[in-house]
Amino acid sequence: MLANKRILLGVTGGIAAYKCAELVRRLIKRGAQVQVVMTDNATRFIPAMTLAAVSGNAVRTSLWDEQAELNMGHIELARWADLILIAPASADTIARLAGGHCSDLLTTLCLATDRPIAIAPAMNRLMWSNPATQDNVSKLTARGAQFIGPAVGELAERETGPGRMVEPAELEEFCAAQFGEGVLAGQHVLITAGPTREPIDPVRFITNRSSGKMGFAMAAACADAGAKVTLVAGPVVQPTPPGVTRIDVETAEQMHKATLDAAPGCDVFIATAAVADYKPGFAADSKIKKDAASQQLDLIRNPDILADLAAKHPDIFSIGFAAETDDLQTYARGKMQRKKLDMIAGNWVGAGKGFDTDDNALWVAWPGGEQELGPAPKGVLARDLVALIAKRQAAATEQASKDNSA
Ligand code: PMT
Repeated sequence: MLANKRILLGVTGGIAAYKCAELVRRLIKRGAQVQVVMTDNATRFIPAMTLAAVSGNAVRTSLWDEQAELNMGHIELARWADLILIAPASADTIARLAGGHCSDLLTTLCLATDRPIAIAPAMNRLMWSNPATQDNVSKLTARGAQFIGPAVGELAERETGPGRMVEPAELEEFCAAQFGEGVLAGQHVLITAGPTREPIDPVRFITNRSSGKMGFAMAAACADAGAKVTLVAGPVVQPTPPGVTRIDVETAEQMHKATLDAAPGCDVFIATAAVADYKPGFAADSKIKKDAASQQLDLIRNPDILADLAAKHPDIFSIGFAAETDDLQTYARGKMQRKKLDMIAGNWVGAGKGFDTDDNALWVAWPGGEQELGPAPKGVLARDLVALIAKRQAAATEQASKDNSA
């Protein structure tokens, strides 16, 4: 449970503020202590009195509250929280946070805290996709803030698109996940990430443009969702996410061995790595000289890690990524069927897409369904994909138990 976890809920000006009463009620029911801080504009959408009543604590609305500030109230609040959740977060608040402003109590305490900050945006779809907002989101993500949503759907102005605040139930699960109670709690997730290097001689190799960003974001999101995570990483310069066990490898053969060795006891396998399909049939022991006018490289197939793991461990819920430049859906579904996977995340790649980018977009499919995720920063996308994986895995388990008892 969220027993005694201290959640500071920042509410900003947006119609979704009315959902905060439900959110506070849910968090309190899970045992959390909730302190609400509202911006001026938030009070136009929901009275502070309502949130005070459901939280059981006086709501703070001003930096200029003499009584509270006698004890440096904003610093106290910044230290009190185990988690700061801003929901709904308006475009203006996101911009002020990205700019490091402290123009009201909420932005001031966000600047004065070292606690995790989570942001659930809610705004018009064009405000969300505006490059100014996206720049602000990237800046805050790079500084460690976590974005939850926005969800895609009908907006207050009767338009449809990304901009809805994610529902209180999902925010409640997100908070629980921050304290080891997430949607993957108790599960062991194995992930491959990054490229592989296939040696030609001691100084040359074949590789690709994978940076490891997507795979490392998946590892962080799985750990945040409460899973034990083993990450088999090709040669990348990404920092290891907190709580993740990392195994570094270089070649596809090494990645194949490390992954299959780590598989027993795992519940979920996510293959984000861009594994070299081929390697030189012969790697020279000494540096190859440039005497000849031309050279030929003889390439042989590498083992398929994902296909081998899925065949050997059909009980592990296996998700592949399919990097495609053309006809993404057809090729991705084909890979899912051929490799006998539970899910596939089709990833458009090419100039400025997929590889070594901060943002990404996925077309995710499973037998009988599909869903688009993004475009969004890889960290946001990873959290959405983890939520989808947990949902599909639970549905597959339920179906299997029905089939067994039939
Ligand atoms: O690392 P980034 O810069 O963030 O970029 C992320 C990404 C674009 C690399 C990632 O999102 C992605 O799409 N990864 C899959 C890349 C790929 O190799 O796709 P594929 O279609 O060739 O392979 C299909 C699946 O089989 C993949 O899950 C792959 O990990 C797996 N595979 C492939 C070959 C092989 N020998 N062994 C495998 O396990």
